[in-house]
Parts: sequence; C-alpha cells; structure tokens
Amino acid sequence: MTQDKNKPFIVAIDGPAGGGKSSVCAQLCIQEGWGYINTGALYRAIAFLAGKKAIAFTDHGQLDDVVGDFVEKFQWDSKTSTLYYDGESISEHLQTEEAGAKASQVAKIETVRKALIPVQRHLIFSSLKPVVLADGRDIGTVIVPDADLKVFLTANLKTRAQRRYTQLEPQTLKTVSDHISSSAPADDQLNAIMHDMALRDEQDEKRGVAPLSMAPDAILVDTSDQSLEQVVDQVKALILDRYRLRK
Ligand code: DC
Repeated sequence: MTQDKNKPFIVAIDGPAGGGKSSVCAQLCIQEGWGYINTGALYRAIAFLAGKKAIAFTDHGQLDDVVGDFVEKFQWDSKTSTLYYDGESISEHLQTEEAGAKASQVAKIETVRKALIPVQRHLIFSSLKPVVLADGRDIGTVIVPDADLKVFLTANLKTRAQRRYTQLEPQTLKTVSDHISSSAPADDQLNAIMHDMALRDEQDEKRGVAPLSMAPDAILVDTSDQSLEQVVDQVKALILDRYRLRK
C-alpha cells in the first residue's frame, strides 16, 4: 500500500453491539490524544430525527429526506464526540439501547447507508489527528477498505449483555426492552438484554447491504475474558506496532 503521510493513520474497529468498541476508543483517545469517529451515532441520529417527525422506517422516500436534511445540518465535534443537528446537541438522545435498536432498523436501508458513506469518509479523512479510530459495523469492509489497521472487537453474547446491564442505570433499563420492567429480577432483565442484543446482532449480520462482518485482513480481538484495561492495552499495542512501521 502506498502511504500518504499527510493522511491520518486510520484504524477501523468493527464488531457487534456491546463488544467494547466505544469504551476502548474513548480510553485510547484520552490516553493517546487520537481522533475518534463513532459512526453508529449517525445511524442513531437518523432514527431519532425520523422518530421526532413521526416518519415510519418503511417510508423510504421520507427517510431519504431526513438523511438529506441531516447531512446538510449536522456538525460533529470531534473533541467531545458530540453530534449537533441544526445547531443543537442531539447526543443525549442517542445513547439508549432503544436508540441503538432503532438505528439498526434504519441501517438496513440501502439509500440511507449510501448517503452516509461520503459523510463518514469525510469525517475520517479530514481529521487533523495523526491517528483516527473509526468504529462501526462496515468500516473495514466498506467505508475504509484500505484502512491502515482493522480490528474486529467481539465477545460472547452473555458477556456483552452483562456489560450492558451493569452500564445501565435502573431508570433507563426499561428502555432496553419493551418486554421487561426495571423492577423485574436481575436475571430476567439480563435475559431480556441478551434477547434484544441477539436480535440486533442478527439484524446487523443478515441485512442485504454492508452486513456486519469481519474483513479478511482484520485482527480478531475477543474481549470475553478481558478487562477494559487489558483490551485497551492490547489494541493500543496493535496500533502502535503498525503505526511505527509507517513512520
Ligand atoms: O455502534 P452502535 O451501537 O452505535 O450502532 C447502532 C446501529 O447502527 C447498529 O446496530 C447498526 C448500525 N450501524 C451500522 O449499520 N453501520 C455502522 N458503521 C455503524 C452502526
């Protein structure tokens, strides 16, 4: 691969929900000052804005308008990983499991994905940081197929659900799933999260366009039996080893 040294060193981090992508990227940014583009936020934003306008996800014509309008009016603050629409932060609306599940539904639609490709590439390539991490489902396969390093971060379903469960505040738990209350026994709540996560995995893996899959040249990191610190150290070592080769 010919290297343009003015381009950032791009790390594609793909994997299923709850595999640890955003926690690892956030830690690496704090420790190393690297840039981070969380591409899931774009799909979450489209689902959120469509919901606000009461547009059904089956109405692809209106959804395309939502995407066009979003592309025109959004801003991404890379320092704080905050997404703005029409001058206002919408990040606080995008963080629930419900927002993730809805994002997964709009992410199945080809025209939505197509419109977001140049947006993601622009955010990644225009970064002024020497190293940029981009996380999502198709970064290494579609968005930046010639990324300098590709990591596929995953963990078994039970571990991912357990992590998500401990991250969630009791009052937000009810948004995890329509079929469980936050006063239900912990095991039932965990099972509900596992159920919803399995559905989201299936939806992301089986969609016809740009499904979640590991690029053949990605490095698989299974985080099931590792702490966040261990995974951060492992991914950092992978990046620094490859980055030094480029310099
Ligand atoms: O990474 P996340 O949980 O914020 O992503 C939410 C959903 O958005 C995910 O279930 C599928 C979709 N997504 C995608 O299809 N492609 C990406 N690059 C990022 C997210």
